[in-house]
Amino acid sequence: MITVLSPMAGVNDKTFRNLCLSMGADVVYTEMISVNGLVNGNRKSFEMLPNPKENAVIQLFGNDPKYFARVVDVVQDRHPKWVDLNAGCPVPKVVKNGYGAALMKSPMLVRKLVEVLVSRGFLVSVKMRIGWKEERNFMEVARAALDGGAFLVSIHGRTVEQGYTGKVDWEPARMLKKELAIKVGVSGDIFSAFDAMKAINFTSADMVFVARGAIGNPWIFRQIKEMSFGQKLKNISFKERHDILRRHLLNSIEEHGIHGIMIFRKFLAAYLKGLPGSHAVKVKALQTSNLKLLMEIVNAYFDKLISCEQGGVERGNT
Ligand SMILES: Cc1cc2nc3c(=O)[nH]c(=O)nc-3n(C[C@H](O)[C@H](O)[C@H](O)COP(=O)(O)O)c2cc1C
Repeated sequence: MITVLSPMAGVNDKTFRNLCLSMGADVVYTEMISVNGLVNGNRKSFEMLPNPKENAVIQLFGNDPKYFARVVDVVQDRHPKWVDLNAGCPVPKVVKNGYGAALMKSPMLVRKLVEVLVSRGFLVSVKMRIGWKEERNFMEVARAALDGGAFLVSIHGRTVEQGYTGKVDWEPARMLKKELAIKVGVSGDIFSAFDAMKAINFTSADMVFVARGAIGNPWIFRQIKEMSFGQKLKNISFKERHDILRRHLLNSIEEHGIHGIMIFRKFLAAYLKGLPGSHAVKVKALQTSNLKLLMEIVNAYFDKLISCEQGGVERGNT
């Protein structure tokens, strides 16, 4: 089973991509990057591009074939594994400009944009939703992607209107896999290795996309692999959790400078979620932007957990 870190704006920086790769993700996507931003030399858009050695999938959003044609050299320089077209982002400021999920309303434009990228030698995929609201035109959009030369469509099993509410529907992924000669990625509500197995067994998709389920839980990729190989699922120890959290924080600072602490906050909260007595630690840790202090708070908390864990193991062994 191919496991994929699904694109997430504001989350999938280089640090998180590398972390997920080290935890067993087969493929990592960048966050969505504006084609117009790249063409206009926007610094932030350029900063989102992966470095050539990463072999990440670059996800682009935009809607003007001329701009897509102009951006190919910049993208090529970063040696992407492949290039993905965002046709699924429902955020109003994106959609209102005709980008992201707005493309679900123009299958012919999806085809055109894919063609532009394919004609320049890229492997191309399209990430989409199941439709705008009741009318679920995912098949039409996927067919347009296929006709344009895409090798993969990934589908988040919700409508644009739904956003992230309601229950995900994996049926469209199953139908795409059955009806089209294209690879399919299934996305939505995969929060555990068990969910991943369920999604793949139900849809027969080629790839499983994990987004929110990887935040604070990047070892999900390893667990999916373990389960798909029929191995017993190993719980992550407090010690390893602590090591990963620390590595994540330090790499975030290396990537973003001291601002990396702020960026790390959303991950920190997720790493601590559900751990015994973590609420008070979280409140304290999220209040400081001093690295030394933050480390002290986190280390003291995990030291306690680890000593309990090891004490428990020793007792268990006697
Ligand atoms: C914070 C956040 C940012 C996202 N950004 C993007 C994005 O840039 N491009 C995209 O195609 N999907 C984006 N998504 C959608 C995810 O890739 C994924 O399809 C969706 O969250 C459903 O998967 P999940 O239930 O595993 O989170 C984003 C989701 C989240 C939660």
